Amino acid sequence: MKFEIITIFPEIIEEYINKGIVSIAKEKGLVEINVHNLRDWTEDNHKTVDDTPCGGGPGMVLKVEPIYRAIQDLKKENTIVAITTPKGEKLVQSKLKNFSTKSNLHMIILCGRYEGFDQRIHDNLVDYEFSIGDYVLSGGELASLVLVDGITRLLPGVLGNEESLSEESFNDGETLDYPQYTRPIEFNGWKVPDVLLSGNHEEIKKWRTSQKPLIGKN
Ligand code: 6GU
Repeated sequence: MKFEIITIFPEIIEEYINKGIVSIAKEKGLVEINVHNLRDWTEDNHKTVDDTPCGGGPGMVLKVEPIYRAIQDLKKENTIVAITTPKGEKLVQSKLKNFSTKSNLHMIILCGRYEGFDQRIHDNLVDYEFSIGDYVLSGGELASLVLVDGITRLLPGVLGNEESLSEESFNDGETLDYPQYTRPIEFNGWKVPDVLLSGNHEEIKKWRTSQKPLIGKN
């Protein structure tokens, strides 16, 4: 599993992928994540990645040439080229699951910026356009991290405790986790439910099932 993330803010990506579960997955060699600065594929002194829209209007548009060159350099035979855009296909857990089973997946992820990409990028260079929700962000860095994190934590061997995946919310596509508690048994007068302290595994299981909320209901 290999990701190439192309961004004009590499530090944002590096900060996240070198912490927590994603960092552990990298150390275990279960995922490789390379972060690239789009400006490395510019050819002018100012390292220009964007320009004003043809026909006028507000904002800036990501230029086609640096992105074209970046893809040419990084693309292999089996590469999926993905871009982040609020207009893309909505990312859902089943899609993450699907990607996570493709062990030789090589994905280039282009982080959007400004008012978007030159349309010729969408039309000619991209296989997969995704959005993480119905709202607009100032850039695609958070969205690309959502994709990489969501896939990485599903890879076999990453969580260590495989049970925490099989028991998990979304696993059956319909339910979220049951409520969890840990010590102390009582804090501030707030108590852990008696059933969880009963040692009766049958009853605990029943209670947990009864507590699982349906998606969209909470
Ligand atoms: Cl993928 N990019 C941006 N810029 N905004 C978003 C998004 C992506 N998904 C939801 N909003």
